[in-house]
Amino acid sequence: MWRLYNTTNMLCKKSDYVFRGHFSFFWNLDTIDFYNTPQIIYLCHKISVMKNYYPEIPSPAFILEEKLLRNNLEKLSYVSKEAGVSIILALKGYALWKSFPLVRQYLAGATASSLSEAKLCVDYMGSKAHTFAPVYAPEEFDEIARCSSHITFNSLSQFEKYKDVCKQYGISVGLRVNPGYSDVTTEMYNPCSPNSRLGIPASELADGLPNGVDGIHFHALCENDSYSLERVLKSFEEKFGHLLSSAKWVNMGGGHLITHKDYKPEHVIQLLKDFKKKYDVAVILEPGGAVGWQTGVLKARVLDIVNYGENPTAILDVSFAAHMPDTLEMPYRPNVRDAFSEKNEGCYAYRLGGNSCLAGDFMMPYYFKEQLHVGDTIILEDMMHYTMVKTTTFNGVTHPSIWIEHEDGRNECIRKFGYADFRDRLS
Ligand SMILES: Cc1ncc(COP(=O)(O)O)c(C=O)c1O
Repeated sequence: MWRLYNTTNMLCKKSDYVFRGHFSFFWNLDTIDFYNTPQIIYLCHKISVMKNYYPEIPSPAFILEEKLLRNNLEKLSYVSKEAGVSIILALKGYALWKSFPLVRQYLAGATASSLSEAKLCVDYMGSKAHTFAPVYAPEEFDEIARCSSHITFNSLSQFEKYKDVCKQYGISVGLRVNPGYSDVTTEMYNPCSPNSRLGIPASELADGLPNGVDGIHFHALCENDSYSLERVLKSFEEKFGHLLSSAKWVNMGGGHLITHKDYKPEHVIQLLKDFKKKYDVAVILEPGGAVGWQTGVLKARVLDIVNYGENPTAILDVSFAAHMPDTLEMPYRPNVRDAFSEKNEGCYAYRLGGNSCLAGDFMMPYYFKEQLHVGDTIILEDMMHYTMVKTTTFNGVTHPSIWIEHEDGRNECIRKFGYADFRDRLS
């Protein structure tokens, strides 16, 4: 006698893959024998195979892939060598200091925007920082000066206030100017708008650089290419060209997305070489995002699926608000591995929900080839730059641990977070 058994959602985890299937078994009961294998005919209606990414690393976790970081550093170092400019890491964009021994092999140092970042630079990059902050507090300035080789001021009043301390510590002093042009269209990220508080306007420097100033700093880009830099330089030269004969260095800020696949290194190399030749100045670039660009992920897990709206929402063990704040603030939509961001025929739509109580802690639907189930892994791409330096413990939700996948394949957990991390920040 044959009997039909139906299974739904049978799960089998095998090495790097998760097989999930809907099967029908025809089981020959006459041959059932606990000591012999029963005769089974089975039909497989549908089988889904999901890659079990980073199987050895439990979620939630930020995972840096060391080999991808090295690729980026090689690109940056190539531009630095060919153009004859210094490229330093902007710590505000990437500060995973356990990876600094690798970073140090390729980049000339780091730029800090606070006392803590300047200390991190000294402690883990092994060099003094190029420091710029919109303002410096008097009680911190001495220590900032001890940790810095270069300090840039955002106003002439701050320069006047601290110029003697800088002299005492032998610091190379710069002034940040507003070049008056930027291709950045999101106002939140455009430091060059006419009413910007960042950068001295040309009108205040009509008489030249004050005594004691070596360098000029501008920052006008955000994930831009070298053609944007070319346009900024045109405006910068028009407004501040008269200062360049007395400057020793020009710091062209960050936002140079040199590690993007479409970035044209030869173009920026020529541009920078021409600039250096024309003005006989040292040139410094201080990208942050480009260093950590596409070097790692946030691994998350589906903990529940609720069907309260138009589309089901897969609720994850991470929060967009707490662990990926830029996705809501900037805002931007992260890529999700094996899912489409846009509607796709035949795919299953799921909103991705964060685990905080904030109503807006979710992403509009992604389209998955396979149905999602509790326990599935969700890989949020490109989560190394800015994401990690901006996370919070909002709602007390568990903070993802931090891992490095080393080039030799070893996985190292470099930080786990717990209750104490949440508690100790608040009292
Ligand atoms: C002064 C300054 N330098 C460097 C950077 C780094 O920029 P990015 O990470 O876009 O390369 C920033 C970013 O805001 C900045 O404000």
